[in-house]
Amino acid sequence: MPFSDQPTVKSGDVEIPLLGFGTWQLEPEDARRMVAEALRIGYRHIDTAWIYKNEKAVGDGIRDSGVPREDIFLTTKIWVAHFADGDLQRQAEESADSLGFTPDLLLLHWPKTTPSIEDTIASLNDARDKGFTRSIGVSNYPSKEFRRAAEASKAPLVTNQVEYHPYLSLHTLMATANELGSTITAWSPLAQGKIADDATIKEVAEAHGKTPGQVTLRWLVQQGVIAIPRTTKETRARENFDILDFELTGEEMDRLHALATPEGRLGDWIDPEFQWDRD
Ligand SMILES: NC(=O)c1ccc[n+]([C@@H]2O[C@H](COP(=O)([O-])OP(=O)(O)OC[C@H]3O[C@@H](n4cnc5c(N)ncnc54)[C@H](OP(=O)(O)O)[C@@H]3O)[C@@H](O)[C@H]2O)c1
Repeated sequence: MPFSDQPTVKSGDVEIPLLGFGTWQLEPEDARRMVAEALRIGYRHIDTAWIYKNEKAVGDGIRDSGVPREDIFLTTKIWVAHFADGDLQRQAEESADSLGFTPDLLLLHWPKTTPSIEDTIASLNDARDKGFTRSIGVSNYPSKEFRRAAEASKAPLVTNQVEYHPYLSLHTLMATANELGSTITAWSPLAQGKIADDATIKEVAEAHGKTPGQVTLRWLVQQGVIAIPRTTKETRARENFDILDFELTGEEMDRLHALATPEGRLGDWIDPEFQWDRD
C-alpha cells in the first residue's frame, strides 16, 4: 500500500493521494529540487504538464528523491496544440520519455472545439491503450463538456482538474463529478498566495494554531477534493503537507465557502465557445 499513511481517493482504476505538489511556473532547477524535497517530506502525488517545460526536471527530482516510482502518483497533461489524432499520442510518448516514467494520469489541459471533444477523447484513450499512461482525465472542463467527454470515453475520466479555492464556488461541477463517478482536483488551491492575507482565514487558522495555507488546504481535502499546492520553498512545502492532524468544524467550512464571489476566478483562459458553470 504505497499511500497507506495519507488520505486518498479512489477513482476509476486508480488511487490518488488527496494532497499533491504542483509545478507550474517552476524553472527546471526549482522543479527538480522541489519535487525531490516534496517527496522526502512525504508528498506522494506530483503534478506537471508538457507546457510547463519541466517534465524532464520533474523526472530527475523523482529519481533524486530515492522514493520508489510505484509509491508516487504522477500526472502530466496534453497541451491544446497537440489534440489532433496522432499528435496527441506523439506528445503522450514524448512526455513519458521526458519524465523517464509512464505517468499515472494524463489530462487534456483545456477543452477545445476542434478537433471535437469526442475525437480528442478517442485519441486520449488510444494513448492509454498504447501504454503511454495508466489513466486519463480532463482539466478545465465545465459540466457540459465534462459530461460529453465522459460519455465518449471508453476508460473512466478519473479527475477534472480545475481552479478551486475559497474565492470561487464549485457546487455545480462538484455535483457533476460526483454523478460521473469522477473527482475534482483543485489548481491554484491557495489562490496563488492570496489566502495568506485573508482576515477570515487567518481567524480560523489562529483557532487551530495553523496557518492560512494549512486551513485552506484542509478545507479542500475535507471536501474530498484533491489539492496540488506549489511552492519554491522547502519550509512552505512542509507547512502545506502538515494538514492531517486537525479538522475544521462545519461552521468553519461554511465561513470559507462564504468567501466565494463571481469575480474570484484567477485564470480564465477558456475558449469563448465554452462557459463555466453558473453557481
Ligand atoms: N490545469 C491547469 O490549467 C492548471 C492551471 C494552474 C495551475 N495548475 C497546477 O496547480 C498547481 C498549483 O497552482 P498554482 O501554482 O497556480 O498556485 P497555488 O498553489 O495556489 O499558489 C502558489 C503560490 O502561493 C505561494 N504559497 C505556497 N504556499 C504558501 C503558503 N503556505 N502560504 C502563503 N503562500 C504560499 C507560492 O509562493 P512561494 O513559491 O514563494 O512559496 C506561490 O506564489 C500548479 O503548480 C500546477 O501544477 C494547473
